Amino acid sequence: MCVRAPAKINLGLAVGRRQADGYHPLATVFQAVSLYEEVTATPSDEPGLTVSGPQAERVPTDSSNLALRAAHLLAEAAGVEPEVHLHLAKGVPVAGGMAGGSADAAAALVACDALWGTGMSRDQLLELGAELGSDVPFALVGQTAVGRGRGHLLSPAMSRGEYHWALGIQEQGLSTPQVYRTFDEILGGVDGEPEPDRALMQALRSGDPEAVGAALVNDLQPAALELAPHLVETLVVAEEAGALGVLVSGSGPTVAALARSQQHATTVAAAMTAAGVADDVRCAAGPVGGARLVGSSVAH
Ligand code: C5P
Repeated sequence: MCVRAPAKINLGLAVGRRQADGYHPLATVFQAVSLYEEVTATPSDEPGLTVSGPQAERVPTDSSNLALRAAHLLAEAAGVEPEVHLHLAKGVPVAGGMAGGSADAAAALVACDALWGTGMSRDQLLELGAELGSDVPFALVGQTAVGRGRGHLLSPAMSRGEYHWALGIQEQGLSTPQVYRTFDEILGGVDGEPEPDRALMQALRSGDPEAVGAALVNDLQPAALELAPHLVETLVVAEEAGALGVLVSGSGPTVAALARSQQHATTVAAAMTAAGVADDVRCAAGPVGGARLVGSSVAH
């Protein structure tokens, strides 16, 4: 079974004060974009995991891997043996703030559910996903959605149009817990429930990329920039190349620049490369769908 799951960009990320459980209440607007993880699940007496793609060597292949944990969690919930080999073909930057690991987990849940015939409902998969990580449920549903709670309580968001992105990728990843800790130190967040940005929601409803660009907001950005100050240059270069809006994606360090068109995204990406402010660049478009089966080697 082969399942593809998308990366995400947080178009808006409002972060509240750290709670007693260590998590921060969020109001985030996710957009799934066309960079994909592909997870292939094959029956095996010797469960294990292999990884290919850029920076594959940085992905753990032991039991700490989120995709393996997803397979084990599903097996436990369904009362089956986790006899599976998983192969991850990585298309999402590793430790980039684009939820590549969460996409792996979402894809593993869907692939193993199909392989084992465990017939989980969408809600059951979303629940298992939330146990694995805050961003896993969104990788299951994709498109555009508002995430509350830890980011795992989703409601669909109205969005029109297609959005083209240039992504500046850094080799050196940022640790999400460390970014949140730095956020606590320098800002701390405001009391009460954070709310998704109204201007952003309105801009998405009307399908106006200029207004979306102007409304992009990430409360974690100051913390990410404190830990990785060189990202300021990446943001500036993308802005100077005419991006409609630029921000650090999630907990970083990937910089996402909203372009006017697919061609303009290529221009912005080229400007980042030429200025040497990103180790790698990619272009992507959104919104796209969530985790879905793209192939099966099992005879019908
Ligand atoms: O849920 P996930 O494993 O993706 O979160 C990774 C870490 O990010 C958490 O351990 C926590 O430190 C931080 N986090 C947070 N508030 C959130 C989501 C994540 O503090 N809403």
